[in-house]
Amino acid sequence: MSAVAPKPEILAAFEAAKGFMPVDEGLALYAAAREAAALGLPLLEVGTYCGRSTVLLADAARGAGTVAVTVDHHRGSEEQQPGWEYHDPETVDPEVGLMDTLPSFRRTLHRAGLEDHVIAVVGRSPQVARVWGGKVGLVFVDGGHTDEHAAADYEGWAPHVAEGGLLVIHDVFPDPVDEFTGQAPYRVYLRALESGAFEEVSVTGSLRVLRRSGPGI
Ligand SMILES: C[S@@+](CC[C@H](N)C(=O)[O-])C[C@H]1O[C@@H](n2cnc3c(N)ncnc32)[C@H](O)[C@@H]1O
Repeated sequence: MSAVAPKPEILAAFEAAKGFMPVDEGLALYAAAREAAALGLPLLEVGTYCGRSTVLLADAARGAGTVAVTVDHHRGSEEQQPGWEYHDPETVDPEVGLMDTLPSFRRTLHRAGLEDHVIAVVGRSPQVARVWGGKVGLVFVDGGHTDEHAAADYEGWAPHVAEGGLLVIHDVFPDPVDEFTGQAPYRVYLRALESGAFEEVSVTGSLRVLRRSGPGI
């Protein structure tokens, strides 16, 4: 995979956005997105949050004349709820008393000048996957971290990865000592490799890039 880097203003937008992805993983995601975008198919993200990773997918999509699609119910994952380690009180809508990361996400995209290159879908990942019709060049799985959610994301979206397209999984922690939200993404990663449908392309921190090399999931 070519080590293509985003322009400084895109990297700055990524770093300015709320979120948890470190720069080295962002650069690996960007390189994967640039490669996959060359297929001319949409790039699909599960887990928008405040748009940190979406900025990178959107810029890669823009460069290839395609689009990034990002799916989130915007109510936050388990570990982001009040009282949990990854909770940010600024993400709570005071009127309804629940998290709502959609306004922050929209500000991120606006500031980055990337609104025209993203389709934001507000909904639950498995429901959206069920009505999704076409192939995608890349699926980036960064949604819920329970086994139920991670498996549903894989089963819902991996079938849509085109031949030669990429499956990118975040928060893969092979060592339970390193886990902060559990090892469900690691189990999905193993399942993808064991399926024979995907082969590993790169490892950067907790980010794994796999390429579709055969049919199925
Ligand atoms: C770790 S955050 C995503 C971080 C983001 N990719 C970034 O780089 O900043 C996980 C997101 O997944 C969303 N999420 C969790 N389970 C979901 C589901 N079943 N359907 C849709 N979104 C979900 C949460 O609302 C949360 O915003």
